[in-house]
Amino acid sequence: MFAQRLQNLQPYKPGEQPKDREYIKLNANENPYLPSPKIKEAVKDIPLQKLALYPDPDSHELKKAIAKALNKTGGVLVPAKDQQPLGFEITEDMIFCGNGSDEVLSFVFYSFFDSDKPLVSPEFSYSFYPVYAGYYGINLKKVPLNADFTLDTKAMLAIDSTGMIFANPNAPTGRALLPAEIEAMLEAYPKDKVFVVDEAYTDFSGYTVLPLLKKYENLLVIRTFSKSMSFAGMRLGYAIGAPALINALTTTKNSFNHFPTDAFCQTAAIAACSDIEWYVENCRKVINTRDIFCKALSDSGWNVIPSKTNFLLVSKDGMPGKDVYESIKKQGILVRYFDIDVIRDFVRITIGTDEQMQKLLDVMKKL
Ligand SMILES: Cc1ncc(COP(=O)(O)O)c(C=O)c1O
Repeated sequence: MFAQRLQNLQPYKPGEQPKDREYIKLNANENPYLPSPKIKEAVKDIPLQKLALYPDPDSHELKKAIAKALNKTGGVLVPAKDQQPLGFEITEDMIFCGNGSDEVLSFVFYSFFDSDKPLVSPEFSYSFYPVYAGYYGINLKKVPLNADFTLDTKAMLAIDSTGMIFANPNAPTGRALLPAEIEAMLEAYPKDKVFVVDEAYTDFSGYTVLPLLKKYENLLVIRTFSKSMSFAGMRLGYAIGAPALINALTTTKNSFNHFPTDAFCQTAAIAACSDIEWYVENCRKVINTRDIFCKALSDSGWNVIPSKTNFLLVSKDGMPGKDVYESIKKQGILVRYFDIDVIRDFVRITIGTDEQMQKLLDVMKKL
């Protein structure tokens, strides 16, 4: 009854959503703060007629709103002092929108990577990359991380590849390369191969590689509204790159589903982009809480990997990650552990509100 190819699929497992009781949910890197109240106003006023018609297949107004927001902030909500200014204007034809960055990534895998050479990625990065590689029959070459969990960029560049993909900051480690280090990689990388930087968590890091788009037409940056924009439930992700890359993604999209972003999503996201100060404020709060929690946890004897994201990867000597996860879950708090070598001893904790993190700290101090 089922197609052969189904037997080989190894699907992605998202963070659990148990219903047996109320949990403080710190397992999926969602944002603890609400999205802008302007969204409610905008959505309330959607004429019902709009729902009877197909939405704009190419999200034109939304792309303009995203471009405007990026140009306003310089590409990152809370920029570090030494983040380069954009140096050019991001235009609508440089943006592609999809149903969450997961879908955008799926189109990226389909559009740019062949199977004659391997696609290069770090051994630990977003766990959907191997899933898409399997789905599309792409040979994924996973390069082990350095001992401190940074990327081994030299080893990644040494491979003759069909393309390159990694998250920066990386997940689930939280470690980040600086834009200058990524530029050095781009310099050494063939200009006719697509080089993908997934910036899902970049707003929490202070840095972005967007200014490099001016110089490198093979660079494609992936972004999501799910993290710093508190929009995971609506599903919106986008890619930013040279118009030729965006056109390729649009061709792939139109061969699969013309309308990945619906009328509600487009309206809500345009409203979100008009209130970027709201998100800057929330992003600052998350960064501040992360840094305080990180120090408090280290002071209590936990090993904490330095993080540039809205999550921390932590371990305690002699305690397997699964035991830590289960003990914390018993106290009504969800974190995530990975049943994978090398990071089996760790749990990943999403940064919540100050109050939520204080509760978690009290629990973890007793473990
Ligand atoms: C590195 C990275 N990229 C992409 C995504 C997907 O985000 P979404 O599909 O919600 O836009 C995630 C989600 O956790 C992620 O961690």
